[in-house]
Amino acid sequence: MPADAVASTLPATPPAVEPARRIDETWIRALPKTETHVHLEGNFELVDLLDLAKAAGEPLPGPAATLFDVSTHDASDGSGDLADFLRFLDWECGLVRTADQAARHAYTFAARQTASGIGYTDAIINPTHWGAWAGRIPELFDALAAGLEEAEQDGLAEVQLCYSLLRQQSASEAREVVEWLRDARPRRVVALSIDGDERSAGRVSGRFAEAFTLAQEAGFRRTVHAGESSGPEGVWDAIQLLHAERIDHGVRAVEDPELLRFLADTQIPLGVCPRSNVVLGIYDDWRDHPLVVLRDAGVNVTINTDDPAPLGTTLEADWAVCAETFGLGQDDLVGFARASIAASFADDATKARLEAGLRPSALSR
Ligand code: ADE
Ligand code: ZN
Repeated sequence: MPADAVASTLPATPPAVEPARRIDETWIRALPKTETHVHLEGNFELVDLLDLAKAAGEPLPGPAATLFDVSTHDASDGSGDLADFLRFLDWECGLVRTADQAARHAYTFAARQTASGIGYTDAIINPTHWGAWAGRIPELFDALAAGLEEAEQDGLAEVQLCYSLLRQQSASEAREVVEWLRDARPRRVVALSIDGDERSAGRVSGRFAEAFTLAQEAGFRRTVHAGESSGPEGVWDAIQLLHAERIDHGVRAVEDPELLRFLADTQIPLGVCPRSNVVLGIYDDWRDHPLVVLRDAGVNVTINTDDPAPLGTTLEADWAVCAETFGLGQDDLVGFARASIAASFADDATKARLEAGLRPSALSR
């Protein structure tokens, strides 16, 4: 085809497609924000695991280079990525045997949160993963609190703890946990949580209703993993049976218009973790994730990492990927930072201090 004929087949002007601008991670780090959905279990970096495994005399379950490759883990029972991933967390936490190691893990966690510009964290800890501490859970909490206190003395960011039940536990185990929380008031614990695999546990929230009511009466806040491997019914149960103040994940609420309206009306926050949902197979691709659909329906959503070390990420990296994938600008991210502060269980003074850093005059552009 002659050159002028080719030219005549081209559009006169290029289509007006604005490439999404990647927002600088340094700018995201500087935004005052909290993280409300992140697990201590999901914060062992490879080097931490190598040190702990050596100290415990335990072999690695596979080559170091692919240790965090969830898809290579054994799925022999056919239960899928989340169940395999939770078993991997059991192995990791099972390597922590001494109070010094537990305190060090908490300290390191606070340092990593600080490095991501996270001014306050509600960190989830589920003692059922920490096999060496069965029968001595108070000592584990003492050690974690000591690590977090030392971190704060060293100028690192504040971290409080959410004591998490596992969905497979019994009603009486759950009650015993809450009675201990109520009577012992372990340092740093601000909330009761429940996590684990909703699909393999079945629809069991009712079993935990008594424990969550007891926790509420004792002044603990309440956060519930739901709407991850369960559908919207898991989120309804968390709200109606467990009186959840916050939902961890909750993304499958997008499938139920009545629930969406309810979440928008009540502003019960969803601690959403897009990367976790994609890696663990809830959505095939970042572009399929309902983060922005939920936000645009008026739901109070925050962006979190869940388990950043095995997922190979940081909060600022995930916010940047969200910005790029969904075409979000700086104002959107300031909105997510504001939502994270409101959704947290931080005290009013901490919330006010973080909020003040989001005033237009305090922000660089
Ligand atoms: N514990 C750690 N990560 C989790 C997840 N994504 N779902 C349920 N429980 C968890
Ligand atoms: Zn989680």
